[in-house]
Amino acid sequence: MDVRDAVASRYSCRAFLPTPIPEKTVRNILERASRAPSGGNVQPWRVHVLAGSRLDALRDIVRSRFDELPRFEGGEYDIYPPGLKEPYESRRQRAGVMLYQSIGVTREDRAGRYRQYGRNYLFYDAPVGLFFSIDRSMGRPQWSDLGGYIQTVMLLARGYGLDACAQEAWTHLHKTLYSFLNIPPEYIIFCGMALGHADRTAPINTWRSPRAPLDEFATFEGFDS
Ligand SMILES: Cc1cc2nc3c(=O)[nH]c(=O)nc-3n(C[C@H](O)[C@H](O)[C@H](O)COP(=O)(O)O)c2cc1C
Repeated sequence: MDVRDAVASRYSCRAFLPTPIPEKTVRNILERASRAPSGGNVQPWRVHVLAGSRLDALRDIVRSRFDELPRFEGGEYDIYPPGLKEPYESRRQRAGVMLYQSIGVTREDRAGRYRQYGRNYLFYDAPVGLFFSIDRSMGRPQWSDLGGYIQTVMLLARGYGLDACAQEAWTHLHKTLYSFLNIPPEYIIFCGMALGHADRTAPINTWRSPRAPLDEFATFEGFDS
């Protein structure tokens, strides 16, 4: 697959088929993704991968605690800065409206929204769930490197005919995850990721999030016109 097609066809998939993914495929993706650049080549990423009975065990824990939605244990970091500024807040809201509209959940239907949000913690039924963590001593440059690694994973997944959804929502279950995954205290989980074959018939997978036009975020100087 051409890299342009991988970028264009990636979207956040929120409904998956149960088709299992071989361990070899996931290993291949994660290994190839480690060609992602990082400042000083420090490669500050750590990944935990769950499938099969281990993933089922985590889902069971989550299901037994659905009454704690949406806060669960509280986030370990702010997913958005407090008082998210414009134009960012409007973009965030628009994506949310489109997501809930796609499944017919209205703004007033709080239970419906929680139900959909709770599906994050089932990895949207994906056969593979990943967690990306980073040493707590790392700074913003290394968090940015981790983001590059995560995007490389998602683009490589497209090359294998797979879809993915990065999931910050998991920070709200950080305590449970540190114990379940045996993650040492010097690491912080940034996000989870659902990985698998998209259920293309699911309404939640039928919309695409909009983007700001190029000239709103890029400035060009010095080119011959
Ligand atoms: C680091 C990161 C964390 C995200 N966390 C979640 C999440 O917890 N749940 C979710 O459904 N989508 C999550 N998303 C998906 C974003 O909402 C999505 O990327 C954005 O709306 C753009 O849509 P697109 O990915 O379909 O192009 C996350 C994306 C990123 C990059």
